[in-house]
Amino acid sequence: MIGGSTGISTGSRGVQLPGWLRDRWRRWRNAKLLDPLVQRKLSGFWITRRRAQREASEAFDLVAGFVYSQVLLACHRLGVLTQLRDGPLTHKQLLSALDLSPAAGLTLLRAAEALDLLECDESDTNEPIWWLGSKGAALLGNAGALAMIEHHAVLYRDLVDPVALLRSPRGSTELARYWPYATADTPSTAGSEQVRAYTALMAASQGLVADEILDSYDFTRHRRILDIGGGDGTFLRHVRQRAPQAQLVLFDLPAVAAEARRRFGGASGVECIGGDFAHDALPAGADLITLVRILHDHDDELARSLLHRAATALAPGGCLVVAEPLAGTPGAVRMGNAYFGLYLWAMGSGRARTAAEISAWMREVGLVDIEERPTRIPLQTRLIVARRPA
Ligand SMILES: C[S@@+](CC[C@H](N)C(=O)[O-])C[C@H]1O[C@@H](n2cnc3c(N)ncnc32)[C@H](O)[C@@H]1O
Repeated sequence: MIGGSTGISTGSRGVQLPGWLRDRWRRWRNAKLLDPLVQRKLSGFWITRRRAQREASEAFDLVAGFVYSQVLLACHRLGVLTQLRDGPLTHKQLLSALDLSPAAGLTLLRAAEALDLLECDESDTNEPIWWLGSKGAALLGNAGALAMIEHHAVLYRDLVDPVALLRSPRGSTELARYWPYATADTPSTAGSEQVRAYTALMAASQGLVADEILDSYDFTRHRRILDIGGGDGTFLRHVRQRAPQAQLVLFDLPAVAAEARRRFGGASGVECIGGDFAHDALPAGADLITLVRILHDHDDELARSLLHRAATALAPGGCLVVAEPLAGTPGAVRMGNAYFGLYLWAMGSGRARTAAEISAWMREVGLVDIEERPTRIPLQTRLIVARRPA
């Protein structure tokens, strides 16, 4: 729950106690937990033991999380997961593919096993057999996640000194240079060199997002669809497969729109328009406008004005779809405020918002029938739909 306009969370979950009782409970709980003797007792007493162990393990994950991410990065860069894609390998076979000393290789493989990236079968041979683990298989099957694992090396460098990151002027980071539009005064002057890396990353991570959106909202009833900030057109290519009847219009920075045009290769019924959505007129007449992973990149003023411009560009009766990961997502609250909070801070603009905030802004710009449509994996994307009155 967001505490009013300050954005300060109460941090409470589950049953809502009256304020005075909540404060007393917090004071009492924290005093107890700060005491190592109490901690020892809680983890020894049979009624509290399981919970204390679980909380200790969760706290340790917070302490050690960066190591887990680097184990994953090492596995990815060394091709450990890919080696096991088609089936298990013996320890010697896997080791020989890694170009590491036996001791270093074993250290990495055991670490990956502990993180469920790998599984080791030591049952009936003298030599262990390595399999993909459940998390390893799920990640290997997700091109977007693999692209993000490698991309996070940039964020990791910015986070080496998190206090310095938070104290420096926003935008003086490597991640801000990676996403030049986040801090540029004139983003539309960015050349193809400056947009290439992020455009490829967005295309690689678009597959699952597109399916989530297309499964949640029926695109087949629209005749002209405008995708604002549409990247190289990967999302619209998915749309075209489901809704071949629609004319498609993509709007993005000139260098990105040029790449989209190249990738569509002159396909009929597709237009790619270059411009700056903060200043240039948006193409009019669409009966569906999509903003896929756009609003969270921008500070409130630009995000609100973009919603206003999109609402105005819609044909009367047309619909606006906003799809992105949101803050306060049940079961994924860390993703919104912890992951995206720091990611977007380092990037130099934007923030993850709640569904309530975006819905309120939609209402402000005159949209109606605002509703959230469920998606299968809300962590990846949530979907808010609204309509311009006819
Ligand atoms: C995070 S990417 C999302 C791309 C795509 N919608 C997707 O989900 O894969 C944001 C996109 O917005 C575009 N963009 C950012 N600022 C823009 C601006 N001022 N005018 C037009 N496009 C902009 C970027 O070039 C980029 O393609």
